[in-house]
Amino acid sequence: MYIAGKQEAAAAEKIITSLTYFRYGTGQEVKAAENEWSQLVGSKDTVVVTSGTAALQIALKALGIGPGDSVLVPTYTYVATPLAVTTVGAIPIYVDIDEQLLMDPKDLKRKIRKHTKAVIPVHMAGMPCNMKAILKVAKEAGIAVIEDCCQCDGGSYKGKRVGSLGDMGAFSFNEYKIISSGEGGACAINKKKYVQRARSASDGGLYAWNEGKKLADKAFCSSHYRFNNINAAILRQQIKRLDGILKSLRNARKQLIKEIKLPKECHFVESHDEEGNCGVCFLVQAPTLKKAKKLDAIFNDVLGSYRPINSSRHIYKDWIVVNEKRGGHHPDWDCFKHPKNKKIKTNYNKPLKQSDDYLNRTVLVRVPYGKSKAAVSQLAKTLNKALESYK
Ligand SMILES: Cc1ncc(COP(=O)(O)O)c(C=O)c1O
Repeated sequence: MYIAGKQEAAAAEKIITSLTYFRYGTGQEVKAAENEWSQLVGSKDTVVVTSGTAALQIALKALGIGPGDSVLVPTYTYVATPLAVTTVGAIPIYVDIDEQLLMDPKDLKRKIRKHTKAVIPVHMAGMPCNMKAILKVAKEAGIAVIEDCCQCDGGSYKGKRVGSLGDMGAFSFNEYKIISSGEGGACAINKKKYVQRARSASDGGLYAWNEGKKLADKAFCSSHYRFNNINAAILRQQIKRLDGILKSLRNARKQLIKEIKLPKECHFVESHDEEGNCGVCFLVQAPTLKKAKKLDAIFNDVLGSYRPINSSRHIYKDWIVVNEKRGGHHPDWDCFKHPKNKKIKTNYNKPLKQSDDYLNRTVLVRVPYGKSKAAVSQLAKTLNKALESYK
């Protein structure tokens, strides 16, 4: 998160002192946050829940995905993405990433099988995926699309906000995200037929409350990912700030890309949508691993940077609980041992060369927030000087 202050504190205090914490009680903050998020994203409806992981699980449950199904996920995402798939009893299959470190539509096409039911493109680090190509492949294959927008709150692709392009979109509001309510998430729903199922999935007991009575005939056993009005009050203030945060980041990103003079053999990676990119970072690619390390050291000193290959929990090779097929808390509740999943071939121990190559040679550079134009210019100047030591 980039900014919070008196507005968030006052909004939370109001709920705390009025003792209206519970979302099905007299307080209406969660409901209001859901309406505001739907309006911002352009979705049919939204369920605001406890985390981005919960939102992914709810989307999968709303789509009815389970044993016998495989779901395609990229090699670069937080481990929560494949974990959500295993939680519903389905099998995650890894798809290579493209130069932008996002799901490669060409490899997506290659990975589709009879048992594939959905794909989860992940808009990592505020960068929208190549949704035109992904949606085309998904449509041809007749599979559902769940956008993982957990790192892309408010981002857009060709004029539409992420999370409104597929069947469902999952967002996170934990502390590391663009906006935050402490912990929190949202599942944006773009098709009417999934609204009631998503609400039922978000709270297995909802049917028994007044708010859920009309859902009773659609309800099914599920867990409890219910949000509360205190955190929702904070979230609503953060939603108000979101477009301002994005504007500041996007301006700084554009200015840095314009003013930084890279060594000839390196290049900025063009986003699939330069305008819709949230602006939290930019990517620079070097010709070799050795040179990328050198570049990273220089960028890190001035702006803060890292090579995504080193971001452990975000890299397929480090998802040990999935790769070692530790599929659940009980042997009979383990997606990898489920008889219906026997025929689904996994690809966890095969190095994916294209992914490794891009992850090795790319440097992810952080964009500073809230700096004046002059301050950003000064950073670019300092960096240009430092880049003279690149060989
Ligand atoms: C790409 C991605 N997906 C899913 C999640 C899960 O979100 P949460 O931590 O809110 O459960 C995260 C959070 O780190 C994420 O970065």
